[in-house]
Amino acid sequence: MIKFAIVGIGTMGSTHALHLNEGKINDGKLVAICDINPARLQWAEENLSSDIKKYIDYDEMLAAGGFDAVMIATPHYLHPPMAIKALNKGYHTLIEKPAGVYTKQVREMNEVALKHPELKFGIMFNQRTNEIYKKTKELIESGELGEIKRTNWIITNWYRPQAYYNQGGWRATWQGEGGGVLLNQSPHQLDLWQWICGMPKTIRAFCYFGRNRKINVENDVTAFCEYENGGTGVFVTSTHDYPGSNRFEISGDNGQIVIEDNKLIFRKANINEKVFNETNTEPWSTPGFEVYEFANGNVWGNQHIEIFNNFIKAIEEDIPLIAPGIEGIKSLTISNAMLLSTWLNETIDVHNLDEELFYQELQKRINEEKSQKGE
Ligand SMILES: NC(=O)c1ccc[n+]([C@@H]2O[C@H](COP(=O)([O-])OP(=O)(O)OC[C@H]3O[C@@H](n4cnc5c(N)ncnc54)[C@H](O)[C@@H]3O)[C@@H](O)[C@H]2O)c1
Repeated sequence: MIKFAIVGIGTMGSTHALHLNEGKINDGKLVAICDINPARLQWAEENLSSDIKKYIDYDEMLAAGGFDAVMIATPHYLHPPMAIKALNKGYHTLIEKPAGVYTKQVREMNEVALKHPELKFGIMFNQRTNEIYKKTKELIESGELGEIKRTNWIITNWYRPQAYYNQGGWRATWQGEGGGVLLNQSPHQLDLWQWICGMPKTIRAFCYFGRNRKINVENDVTAFCEYENGGTGVFVTSTHDYPGSNRFEISGDNGQIVIEDNKLIFRKANINEKVFNETNTEPWSTPGFEVYEFANGNVWGNQHIEIFNNFIKAIEEDIPLIAPGIEGIKSLTISNAMLLSTWLNETIDVHNLDEELFYQELQKRINEEKSQKGE
């Protein structure tokens, strides 16, 4: 039995706490929780087993121990410093997405994790358990789709009204959250985009800040990327389109994958398009295609449970993690590149992202926000 402590008993942390407390996670037990908000400890008192230890101070919880692993479900800026502390104290560590706010901070966390190969370090990229994305990855890795020519992801159904932003707190501010839709709502798709199609080589992005909403951070993004092989991609996300879409298309030499409405459609060309083009002599001929469909059977809540189950099995049986923590830097590099491209009005070389410059530009926005508030 793997004993867990959770820090941050808010929206997501309380869901994880209930899953553990209700025995929904195989071989996992919740023994301690921590939150700086006394109201959340009160919630825990009323909703979780009475023998679960409650702490208001994270360092105190880590020092007290009595558990094997820590789940970190606090706001994003805190993921790296809290993970570093947990790993250095010898705890297996599972962090919420995104890995952090800026890659410089996340790189430090990864260095600590790499110094502790005896500890498992995971990240809650729960959508990696979705059968249709797993199938897509398989179709690409097996070579069935062929070389990627084009990727397009429109993920604009993360609708958030002004009332969501008016809740205040850490959300949708440079100081508290460090970004908007790229850091809060879309990290899952940014991770899947790179997990399935690979890291882009360059990014040119156009982020709009506070579009149709009174917020300082980005809530409307259109980004163009180029891959090493010359293929291109477009990623579009927002929180103010309604009803919005979630449509992911990947075009390869052997056809096209379209994922929409929890369904994957693979239009498999009868012959590799490049081969067809080289040999065909008919002006209006096409390669032709067959249609294959796959549906997804994995619902949202179960995805988080699956990541926990995998994390526990990785500790107990040393199986591979579905989402290793050190991979969190990849999607964060993409989102940092999208913001930096907008701020500098230029194309960003993703493999050589200037982490220090990103950090400085972020600090500028934080300072502007502070002076707006008269801080
Ligand atoms: N994987 C997913 O599907 C998913 C879904 C929602 C949120 N998240 C992630 O989970 C994290 C938390 O999001 P949320 O929506 O639950 O936020 P939230 O504001 O509801 O909860 C955060 C909690 O952390 C506590 N906290 C803040 N600072 C703390 C500290 N120093 N020590 C202890 N506790 C502290 C707060 O009091 C709060 O209760 C975010 O990084 C978010 O991106 C992931």
